[in-house]
Amino acid sequence: MTTIEVGLGARHYPIRIGTGLLGDAQGWRDALRGGHALIVSDGNVAPIYAQRLRDALAQASGTPIHCEVLVLPAGEAHKNLDAVSKVLDALARLGATRDACVLALGGGVVGDIAGFAAACWMRGIDFIQFPTTLLAMVDSSVGGKTGVDHPSGKNLIGAFHQPRAVIADLDTLVTLPSRELRAGLAEVVKTACIGDADFFEWLEAHADALLAADTEVLTHAIARCCRFKAGVVERDEREAGERALLNFGHTFGHAIETETGYDALLHGEAVAIGMVVAARLSAQLGMGDDADTERLEALLKRLGLPTTLPTGFAPDALLARMHLDKKNRAGALRLILWHGIGRAEIVENIDATAMRAVLA
Ligand SMILES: NC(=O)c1ccc[n+]([C@@H]2O[C@H](COP(=O)([O-])OP(=O)(O)OC[C@H]3O[C@@H](n4cnc5c(N)ncnc54)[C@H](O)[C@@H]3O)[C@@H](O)[C@H]2O)c1
Repeated sequence: MTTIEVGLGARHYPIRIGTGLLGDAQGWRDALRGGHALIVSDGNVAPIYAQRLRDALAQASGTPIHCEVLVLPAGEAHKNLDAVSKVLDALARLGATRDACVLALGGGVVGDIAGFAAACWMRGIDFIQFPTTLLAMVDSSVGGKTGVDHPSGKNLIGAFHQPRAVIADLDTLVTLPSRELRAGLAEVVKTACIGDADFFEWLEAHADALLAADTEVLTHAIARCCRFKAGVVERDEREAGERALLNFGHTFGHAIETETGYDALLHGEAVAIGMVVAARLSAQLGMGDDADTERLEALLKRLGLPTTLPTGFAPDALLARMHLDKKNRAGALRLILWHGIGRAEIVENIDATAMRAVLA
C-alpha cells in the first residue's frame, strides 16, 4: 500500500492506494469519530461494493457504528441539488449528529455530491472518499472540492470541504467499464501536461499497460497524480492562483459537456478534447508549438480518447458557456494554456478571434 499525506495542518489527511482496502477497516477506521456512518453510493457501485464496506465497519474494533446505505441514481445527469437533498434526508433519518461520517463510495459524481452534503449537514461533518473510478482516484477525491451542477453550468454550486481520508482500492477497478477507465486516463495525462514532462514520457512508454489496467503501473500513475495534486492543494487550497492550473482542458471540457447535456461524452473525454483545444490555442497564440500538440493528440488517441469536437458545435455557443466558468474574474475569460508539455500557465484577456478560430 502507498500512502500520501495531504499536509493541510489540522485538516491533514492520508490518501491510501492499494488493494484489499475496502474490506479492511484498519486503514480507515480511525477516521470515524462518532457512532453514525452513512455510506453514499450509486446504483452501479452499491450492489457490488457497499456490503464489503459495511462488513468491514461491523468487524472493526472500537465503538459500534450505526451504519446505513443510501443509493443514488448513477451519472452526471443526477449530480444536482435533488441528490444532495436525498443525502441530507438520509442523514436526518439516521439521526446523524456532528460527529457522524459520510462514506462516499463511487466515482467523482458520488464523491462530489456526498462531500457537499457532508459540508452542509450541521455546517460540516466528516467524510471519507472511497473512489471507485480511476478519475476519482487520481483527481476528484483529493483536494476537497465538492459540489453539484446547476442547469446553467457544471459544478456551479459547491463548497471546499476536505475529506478525513481517501481510500483508493484498486480492486474496484476490475468492474469499471473500459470506457470509464480511459476517461480517467485523460486526467492522468492532464497532470503530466501541467507540470511533469518526465511523467508524460513515462505515460507514452506505459500506455499499453495503463489500458490493460496493470495494477502496478496504475498504482504508480495514481500515486504520482495524487502527490502532484496534494502539493498544489497544500500551496493553494482555495484556488487563489496555482490550483487553477489543474483545470487544464477543463474550461473547454465543461462547456462541451454542458452544451451536449452531459450525456454524449464522459467528463474525461470532454477534458481530453479540451486539452487539445487548449494546446492548439496556445500554439496559435505563439506560446506552445505544434509538435507538443501533436504529441498530446497522439498519446490521447493511443489511450482511446477523443481529440476533436463533436460536429455541430457553434463556437459562439461554447464561448458563451465558457464565460460562466468559475475561473473568470470581472467578466474576463481566464484559461489554462501551456508553453509545451509540463508547462501550463493561467492566461487572461485572450483574443476572442483566436478562440473562435480554434473552436471552428
Ligand atoms: N471534485 C473535484 O475536484 C473533481 C475533479 C475532477 C472531476 N470531478 C467530477 O467527477 C465527476 C466524474 O467522475 P467519474 O468519471 O468518476 O464519473 P461517475 O462518478 O459518473 O462514474 C462513472 C460511471 O462508472 C460507474 N462506476 C463507478 N465505479 C465503478 C466501479 N468500480 N465498477 C463499475 N462501475 C463503476 C458509475 O456508477 C458511473 O456510471 C464529474 O462530475 C466531475 O465534475 C470532480
